[in-house]
Amino acid sequence: MNGMELRETIELRKSIRAFRPEPVPREGLQEIMEKALRAPSWGNTQPWKVTIVGGKPLQSLIGECVQRALAGGAFGPDLEMPKGWPEELDRRYKENGRKLFAELAIERGDQEKRNAHRLNMFRFFGAPQAVYLHQERTLGPYSIFDAGLLAQNIALLAAEKGVGTCFLGVTVLYPEVIRQYTGIPETDRILIGLAVGYPDDDAPINQFRSERVPIENVVRWVD
Ligand SMILES: Cc1cc2nc3c(=O)[nH]c(=O)nc-3n(C[C@H](O)[C@H](O)[C@H](O)COP(=O)(O)O)c2cc1C
Repeated sequence: MNGMELRETIELRKSIRAFRPEPVPREGLQEIMEKALRAPSWGNTQPWKVTIVGGKPLQSLIGECVQRALAGGAFGPDLEMPKGWPEELDRRYKENGRKLFAELAIERGDQEKRNAHRLNMFRFFGAPQAVYLHQERTLGPYSIFDAGLLAQNIALLAAEKGVGTCFLGVTVLYPEVIRQYTGIPETDRILIGLAVGYPDDDAPINQFRSERVPIENVVRWVD
């Protein structure tokens, strides 16, 4: 898959929500990270840290998060979660969810299947590895922006190698559990968790492709 055109890789990348169990070899992930770290940042401050977790530590960490979720444990994410959306964005958000559930054949009122899907998110959709992005808490909003640039580099470089990813806000709802199993310090805020692994191409959910608003609705020209 190497040498793929950037535009092809951008087309190819999408959120993968079912994975094969075998881990991505460390050298492969190392190569992705090395290249991803070329991301730009304010004043080249490179305000990011990456913790890659797999094997037993990941399974223990997930086990505890799932337990808390099942028990209805209160969330305490380091980064404030969105409380709601303006009308237009809310429409996109709901439409995306509706289509995703349709792909999974989950009916609107099927609370059991909905809950199972939610827990599956905490499980990184069965991915063998997880990448956490974190940074010092004292940094301002532009440093979060910078970390986003790194995040997209990681997802694209992974896609180019046939490695699937899915950003998962759900996975950072219990940051103290992540800290306990990874040693990420209290002085860092954990921004996002990313599922990493080889896509299960037979899974219906991986056939889902999200939509985008047309360019005219987004881009303005002033010239
Ligand atoms: C910051 C962030 C958090 C996300 N959290 C979740 C999540 O908790 N669960 C999930 O299924 N997808 C999550 N996603 C994936 C988005 O739903 C997905 O990127 C979006 O629907 C567009 O689809 P695509 O990635 O396939 O192009 C997240 C994406 C981002 C960037």
